[in-house]
Amino acid sequence: MEIAYASALTVIWTLASLWWLRQRPALAGASEQHDIVLVYASQSGTARRLAERYLQQFNAARELNTTVHSPAARLYALDEISPQTLAGCKVALFVVSTFGDGVAPDHATAFVRDHLGRHPLNASATGNSWPELSQLRYAVLALGDRHYANFCAFGHCLDQALQHAGATRLWPVIEVDRQASSALQQWQQQLQHQFQLVENQTTTALSCRLLHREELNPQSPNPSLYLVRMSALGPAPLRFEPGDIAQVQLPNGEQRSYSVANYDSQGSGQLELIIRQVTRTDGTPGVGSHWLTERVDGGSEILIRIQSGLALTRLSVHTPVIMIGAGSGLAGVRALLQYRQQAGVQGDWLITGERDARFDLPLWQQWQHACDDGTLGHWDACFSRSPEQPFSYVQDALMAHPQRLRDLLMRGACIYVCGSAAGLGESVDACLHSLLGPAVVTILQTQQRYLRDIY
Ligand SMILES: Cc1cc2nc3c(=O)[nH]c(=O)nc-3n(C[C@H](O)[C@H](O)[C@H](O)COP(=O)(O)OP(=O)(O)OC[C@H]3O[C@@H](n4cnc5c(N)ncnc54)[C@H](O)[C@@H]3O)c2cc1C
Ligand SMILES: Cc1cc2nc3c(=O)[nH]c(=O)nc-3n(C[C@H](O)[C@H](O)[C@H](O)COP(=O)(O)O)c2cc1C
Repeated sequence: MEIAYASALTVIWTLASLWWLRQRPALAGASEQHDIVLVYASQSGTARRLAERYLQQFNAARELNTTVHSPAARLYALDEISPQTLAGCKVALFVVSTFGDGVAPDHATAFVRDHLGRHPLNASATGNSWPELSQLRYAVLALGDRHYANFCAFGHCLDQALQHAGATRLWPVIEVDRQASSALQQWQQQLQHQFQLVENQTTTALSCRLLHREELNPQSPNPSLYLVRMSALGPAPLRFEPGDIAQVQLPNGEQRSYSVANYDSQGSGQLELIIRQVTRTDGTPGVGSHWLTERVDGGSEILIRIQSGLALTRLSVHTPVIMIGAGSGLAGVRALLQYRQQAGVQGDWLITGERDARFDLPLWQQWQHACDDGTLGHWDACFSRSPEQPFSYVQDALMAHPQRLRDLLMRGACIYVCGSAAGLGESVDACLHSLLGPAVVTILQTQQRYLRDIY
């Protein structure tokens, strides 16, 4: 009887929230006619930043060309358009990454569901939702990483759907393996050739030095976690905000990404990162994490480029955030929490995940302080390998408080998840699907109220 009552409540909640969540103003411009549209699908911001860069190039070309007709370009996220919008465009340039197990980034989930079939690898299943697009010329810049089985799968999926609808390729799909500059140059050459665009300046890497390094879980048998603080050497300070990613260049020329772990309210330019020492499956130390946590000293040069990411400061301070982080993912959570604490927010919900409560208590005082001053209305600390208490993972805290989750979402809350994709991202995602249902999760993703910085 109780179970039937509970499931009836869940159905009512889902229907109510679907209605409520859909109360969102229609997107401006979605039905306008455009010469050129730039469309991105991006999980951690790289594809969006590239699309913004190409938009600037179109704008610059237009300003230089005031006497001759120069096409106007508009930028859209993939979830802001539909195949019908494309029917009113002459040229569409897509910059899209592939995420998860060869699927589209989160915010494009509804587009995929409505226009590409349930799984993007079923590209031919475009259904009847696509009008004939014979007037459209397009190109796809597909971002990915060859370490994954389905390399650039979503870019190819989109390309096939556009072919299927009769659109004409300007040039074949260009695949970008981990932001390889050769592929990006190839795309830039095509833009120059077809649209006479000139490459704009990219953010420069700043030369930085180490200020402070501290082990956050000494005596722990688990992999060490470090807080690393640094600042730029030159006159220009590092500028960053919560949600940004610091790209660190290693001495061997490779790059590693780290989530910004602090909010620099005073503009001091001091950047903090939280870095887990990684050991590879063959037992050898991970190159970047060991270099930063053991080898660099005050005399070493560390080249850092800040990439704008999820722009977490745009989240309203009047609606709650549910922050979920585990291990090194506490970095992004810490930066966001510092920002919201400083902004005077009250009543957020924090869920942290670590292994052993005897040793792994990094940042404990900071979370406690945020509870004391009311920034956090709730804090659930989960430990997956603590001998004195039942093992618990971050998703267990969500499962234990479904009504709190729903209440906060009905008040407009956003969910922010930071940490490993396999350990944290997938389990939290599965849990949200089971508690809220796929339709609600998709709407949250489309409205960018379910934000994930997972790796
Ligand atoms: C957007 C983004 C944000 C990130 N933020 C952070 C952060 O804030 N803090 C942080 O510590 N790391 C973060 N990372 C991971 C980081 O970029 C590196 O991948 C990590 O430090 C390992 O690099 P390495 O050079 O030490 O190891 P490598 O020499 O590259 O060797 C890594 C090997 O170990 C495996 N591996 C990679 N990462 C892990 C891992 N986390 N756990 C277990 N095995 C792994 C890989 O399969 C690979 O074979 C982030 C990654 C991305 C993409
Ligand atoms: C959790 C995770 C899963 C990924 N899955 C794939 C994949 O299946 N195929 C692929 O080619 N690239 C994959 N990538 C690599 C991304 O596509 C690549 O890093 C891209 O540059 C990210 O662009 P974005 O910042 O715009 O999302 C994955 C990256 C992450 C962090």
